[in-house]
Amino acid sequence: MANISLDQIKAPIIKEMSDFEQRFQNSMSTRVALLNRIMNYIVKRKGKQIRPILVFLSAGIHGTISDRTFRGATLVELLHTATLIHDDVVDDSLERRGFFSINALWKNKIAVLVGDYLLSRGLLLSIDNGDFDLLGISSTAVKLMSEGELLQLEKSRTLNLKEKEYFDIIRMKTASLIASCCAMGARSVTSDDDIIEKMRLFGEYVGIAFQIKDDLFDFGEEGIGKPVGNDIKEKKLTLPVIYALGQVEKSEQKKIIALIKGKDSERSRFSKLVDFVKDNGGITYAENMMMDFQEKAFAILNEFPQSAYRDSMQKLVIYTTKREK
Ligand code: IPE
Ligand code: IPE
Ligand code: MG
Ligand code: MG
Repeated sequence: MANISLDQIKAPIIKEMSDFEQRFQNSMSTRVALLNRIMNYIVKRKGKQIRPILVFLSAGIHGTISDRTFRGATLVELLHTATLIHDDVVDDSLERRGFFSINALWKNKIAVLVGDYLLSRGLLLSIDNGDFDLLGISSTAVKLMSEGELLQLEKSRTLNLKEKEYFDIIRMKTASLIASCCAMGARSVTSDDDIIEKMRLFGEYVGIAFQIKDDLFDFGEEGIGKPVGNDIKEKKLTLPVIYALGQVEKSEQKKIIALIKGKDSERSRFSKLVDFVKDNGGITYAENMMMDFQEKAFAILNEFPQSAYRDSMQKLVIYTTKREK
């Protein structure tokens, strides 16, 4: 299949996504001048908006998109934006969406508070409208995301990460929110628990594939709108490295770990590590795992009746693993 664009995917929800933009912007409005400047900066440098797209498509597959669907979509994008702002502080990362990150421009103190502000706006949006079911689903995701980020930080200290722990981390820090998008979209139009749980699991599989792809980007070329090589810099072991390490003798493992911890210049360490990972099949292995999760996602999706929304969702799953940023 030819490369799929987000515009193609958005075709059945084009009107919704355009209304969403305005609602998202309104949901951040403030009279505090500094905060207002930062909110304008955020709105101008929007991301791919995959999470709201997931909410709308999940709702469309199972019913009629409603005001609750819009609030669910706004809520997840607020939560997502807040966690990215915090994540860039945690990862000491100066670039996001092709521009300076909030911490790069306004420093960590302000970035932490801005993330908190966005979280609070998400909470209030749900509470003011009585969307307690949607708030429940998303709060579980926020809890898991924090736990996942902390688990990752803890593991980056010892540099001894097993494949199972890697999957636990990415399920928590990334797949939980993507799962909640699909569950919330469905929950906004149906109360059938069986369907909602299937959509949650579908989203979890998509989310795992999505994060494996994100981790593969770290070994690739510049131009994805955020730094490459940052995981290694932060001593984060991801699937390609974990697998490659498992392919070699203890003595070689020790050398690579020393390289990751190492004192050489950032650039030379990084290129040595990339060679090691490639030579030991780490990239191919991670790509295969990613495709396995994509297949699991398709299997669930195909249980639901065909529609323009389901077709788009299928394209979105393919986009997850084929995207270039
Ligand atoms: C980035 O998510 C954070 C991860 C979970 C890897 P996206 O790649 O969806 O970020 P934006 O919103 O498009 O910038
Ligand atoms: C993103 O984790 C997941 C969360 C924000 C919780 P990463 O740190 O791997 O993502 P990027 O690469 O900075 O977007
Ligand atoms: Mg991170
Ligand atoms: Mg990061």
